[in-house]
Amino acid sequence: MHSSLTFTLSLILSVHVYGVAGAAWGYNYKNGPQTWTGACQTGLRQTPIDIRTMDTDYSLMDRVNFIGYDQLNEVTAVNNGHTVSAAGFTEWKNKPYISGGALEGKYYLQQFHLHWGQKDHVGSEHKIGGLSYPAELHLVHLKEGLTLAEALTRGDGLAVVGVFLNIGESGEPLAALTKNLEELTYSGNMTQIDKFRPRSVLPTVTDAFYRYEGSLTTPGCNEAVQWILLAEPISVTRDQMEQLRKIRNTEGEEHEFNFRPTFPLNGRRVRFRPAQYDRLRFCSSSYFPSLFITVFSIILSKILN
Ligand SMILES: *[C@@H]1O[C@H](CO)[C@@H](O)[C@H](O)[C@H]1NC(C)=O
Ligand SMILES: [Zn+2]
Repeated sequence: MHSSLTFTLSLILSVHVYGVAGAAWGYNYKNGPQTWTGACQTGLRQTPIDIRTMDTDYSLMDRVNFIGYDQLNEVTAVNNGHTVSAAGFTEWKNKPYISGGALEGKYYLQQFHLHWGQKDHVGSEHKIGGLSYPAELHLVHLKEGLTLAEALTRGDGLAVVGVFLNIGESGEPLAALTKNLEELTYSGNMTQIDKFRPRSVLPTVTDAFYRYEGSLTTPGCNEAVQWILLAEPISVTRDQMEQLRKIRNTEGEEHEFNFRPTFPLNGRRVRFRPAQYDRLRFCSSSYFPSLFITVFSIILSKILN
């Protein structure tokens, strides 16, 4: 009883923090991103971004370790009026967390949620070379030892893993969620998913990713996020995509879209970790000079420190 109460409280709290208590922000012309205040307007390391080759450097980062992501356990999914979100991972005996990926320490999984639009050519928050995916999934992680409130005041308080969704044959990745999606049509709806495996919403290969410093993409747009964007997308069927598009917002309408437009890098660089097969190319001819320079500058910086 007690633990289920704290769980409900923490779920409500997280919905509030990620959605600013009671404030009527949204994605339409009256309450959309152009009207959001504070860091959403003034910030200089905002998310999302358009990832262009010219802003990207190859980087020899370690892989991201997804620990405890293979467990099958219970989560609670909620329509909070802005998105559908699933939480409860922090109640598990073995709490799922990530490490590696040039992160410092462990980051514990708090919740995941999705961004989408009504048309296939929009939906994701991040763009790659100017192009969008139809949807994007965010796994939100909190740095070990911090409260959410503390994390939001630090540049590295949170680590969000972004996964692109592509319309394809397999409905496996989102199956556990979409089975319950009809019960989540309206804002405030909540449902239990008895058997959810975090690994299921990750692509088979997680070796290749983009890495940069950014923000939450909802008010107050806190610049507290270490972003890890996986290069390989997961598959969602057209039917599942249509189901997602029926989810309604605080106003009781289907979301025309619930993604934020992209922001300038303002001098930030994006680091890209290629997958194994890319690394063969990396060492051959054209990539070799840049690999050499990267290794050389790592050695140099170690000496200078
Ligand atoms: C979802 O919310 C609507 C509106 O508040 C309500 O009428 C409906 O019963 C809820 N559905 C479920 C499954 O809880
Ligand atoms: Zn998000």
